[in-house]
Amino acid sequence: MPKEKLAAGADHAGFRLKEYVRHYLGEQGYQVEDCGAFSEEPSDYPDYAEKVARRVASGEAAWGVLICGTGLGVAIAANKVPGIRAATCDNTLLARFAREHNQANILAMGGRIVDRATARKILDTWISTGFAGGRHARRVEKIAALELKEKSS
Ligand code: RB5
Repeated sequence: MPKEKLAAGADHAGFRLKEYVRHYLGEQGYQVEDCGAFSEEPSDYPDYAEKVARRVASGEAAWGVLICGTGLGVAIAANKVPGIRAATCDNTLLARFAREHNQANILAMGGRIVDRATARKILDTWISTGFAGGRHARRVEKIAALELKEKSS
């Protein structure tokens, strides 16, 4: 069975790790849309965060990966798009809880923070962890309700 479609993006500081991650996910059978950047030329992380976030919010991508220097800027920007729950994870415990408790749909990582082996482990955990539901579903629904409140205020 073909695997889910994903979207990946990074600025210059995350470019190399993004290339590695795309390759790693591709090897596992995922179809990963590359939303740029396409080089290490200085670029602005909100541009790639927006592209990946829109793919995920529209359902074109099941989930996404965003990488900047720290993983912070891309997550802050992506979280401005309704429906996005981007989580910066620099270890497997954060990846597990981001999925299990927060039903995160974008994994953000820092190209200057995590090395390739760590990124691989984080991805493996992210992929193999499902949403726990129950009380966590109620909380995630409250996040969606907050977005609606903001829209109508
Ligand atoms: C770029 O130098 C750096 O600020 C950016 O990649 C990111 O870490 C921002 O949060």
